[in-house]
Amino acid sequence: MAVLQTTRLTLSPCTPSDCADFINLERDPEVMRFLNGGHAVDRETIGADATFLMPRGTEPYIWTARRTVNGAFVGWFCLWPESEGLAELGYRLRRMDWGQGLASEGALALVNWGFASGQYDKIAATTMAINLGSRRVMEKIGLSYARTVMYDGPDPIPGSEHGEVWYELTRAQWTRRQLAEIEAGLAEADRGEFASAEALATVVAKYVKPDRPA
Ligand SMILES: CC(C)(COP(=O)(O)OP(=O)(O)OC[C@H]1O[C@@H](n2cnc3c(N)ncnc32)[C@H](O)[C@@H]1OP(=O)(O)O)[C@@H](O)C(=O)NCCC(=O)NCCS
Repeated sequence: MAVLQTTRLTLSPCTPSDCADFINLERDPEVMRFLNGGHAVDRETIGADATFLMPRGTEPYIWTARRTVNGAFVGWFCLWPESEGLAELGYRLRRMDWGQGLASEGALALVNWGFASGQYDKIAATTMAINLGSRRVMEKIGLSYARTVMYDGPDPIPGSEHGEVWYELTRAQWTRRQLAEIEAGLAEADRGEFASAEALATVVAKYVKPDRPA
């Protein structure tokens, strides 16, 4: 696991010092709406069989997201190995941070890292079909709808009758997209659209991503 830097976020492998922030996050029923039907999680009473992750800061594959500018906790992201070459992406952010593009920003950094580091051939993500915000994040970072799976577990929550959707992106699709981005950048350069050194620096910053591993 690497520390990943995005425009506004620092994503660091979680540590036990993040546990209090994780617990506070789960105390917001709105955050938990599509995970348990919208109940504040009481870790003292909830069973270990909860169908959603409750990180404590000791787990691998979970990154704590903080604002780079002031270290404020934003939420967490995960890229969880499921089977050979396949990882599942997840995210949970504080309500006050929603609607600013932060989930997409952090999730994209993890997808790029997952493929660029050569660890995965496919990245998938799932959510309740009615969780339109989460579905939009998946689309914005380039995952495509794959299928809907009907829920037949023991404790259905409101909306689970619509099933859970899966989105996916393969390494080949990701690579093609990266190449297309580079080609678009080169075409921009060919058109001589650099009026100044600052303009050139802006384009270089766009295509030379600092969060890619060396
Ligand atoms: C889902 C969640 C991660 C989104 O975080 P976020 O930082 O607001 O996401 P972003 O700002 O990057 O993108 C959200 C997109 O969804 C859209 N969106 C949000 N709510 C929506 C809704 N009810 N209907 C349609 N689109 C919606 C936003 O407009 C935005 O799209 P846009 O940029 O094209 O306008 C956040 O709400 C969250 O943590 N929810 C609780 C936990 C959760 O549900 N996690 C996923 C479970 S698998």
